[in-house]
Amino acid sequence: MLDQNTATLPVDTDSPAALRSTAEETARIAGAYLRTVFRGAMSVSSKRDRHDLVTEHDLAAEEIIVPRLLAVSPTWRVIGEEGGVRGTGDKVTWYVDPIDGTSNFAQGIAFFCVSLGAEIDGELVAGAIYDPIADRMYSADDAGAYLDGQPLLTRAALAADAATIITGYPTAADVERDGDRALAGFGALVEAFSSVRRTGSGALTLAHVAAGWVDSALGTSVSPWDVAAGALIVRRAGGSYRPLHFSTVTADGPDHLAPGFVAVGPGGHYPALETLAVDIEARRIHAGKP
Ligand code: IPD
Ligand code: CA
Ligand code: CA
Repeated sequence: MLDQNTATLPVDTDSPAALRSTAEETARIAGAYLRTVFRGAMSVSSKRDRHDLVTEHDLAAEEIIVPRLLAVSPTWRVIGEEGGVRGTGDKVTWYVDPIDGTSNFAQGIAFFCVSLGAEIDGELVAGAIYDPIADRMYSADDAGAYLDGQPLLTRAALAADAATIITGYPTAADVERDGDRALAGFGALVEAFSSVRRTGSGALTLAHVAAGWVDSALGTSVSPWDVAAGALIVRRAGGSYRPLHFSTVTADGPDHLAPGFVAVGPGGHYPALETLAVDIEARRIHAGKP
């Protein structure tokens, strides 16, 4: 018989609540590091092109995050933006963006975050987005969404003529691909919404939709580490996250692997956004180019 005083129950590291807690704790530690180096001198280089930056601190923050996650359980693996796949576990997959909003971070603009999302069997189960400058923690698990540990339920989205949308569309690649239609599409959003913003961090944008501070968001060039945590947080807070598929390759896969998204607060109805999203999706699938 177990001695009730000394027996310890095994800790379920893979429960959604435990994964959320790990995500929050890890993001907070990495964020604390980023806070100390923000607006200091730093080395910056470009990856695919001059629009796609990486700093020494993206690498350093990922090196804070990944070993911590892998030390928790050998059944986990991590897919980091900078370091790729590490760990051989197949139970939990973590998507790690050590800095989402690197261009902002590199310039000294205080709109960036750390984003960690956890997936089991293709389903998002937990995630955390930490804004180290505002010291705000957005997170979610199977039970709900949270802002600084308190339950988060987003407010009803506003009517289009009073609403705000955040979008990075068109990116330079979108302009190259879609030409004048990209600028016309952006113009349609400017006309339809009260405010259009380009903030430079997909993850923190989704956190703002979840918090009800922004009514909608459109992303057309995202990776799983940009959206894994944010998609879950938006949905658990009561908003909607719809993937945009630009090829038949991702169409049957999990939503967070899709290269685009439309996120909207509860009740939001934005015909101009819908028309643009459908148009972008249809033309890319038709062209056969992701
Ligand atoms: C970028 C941001 C940006 C989005 C880009 C991402 P990064 O991430 O989320 O908002 O438009 O597609 O690559 O490079 O700052 O981690
Ligand atoms: Ca990112
Ligand atoms: Ca990044």
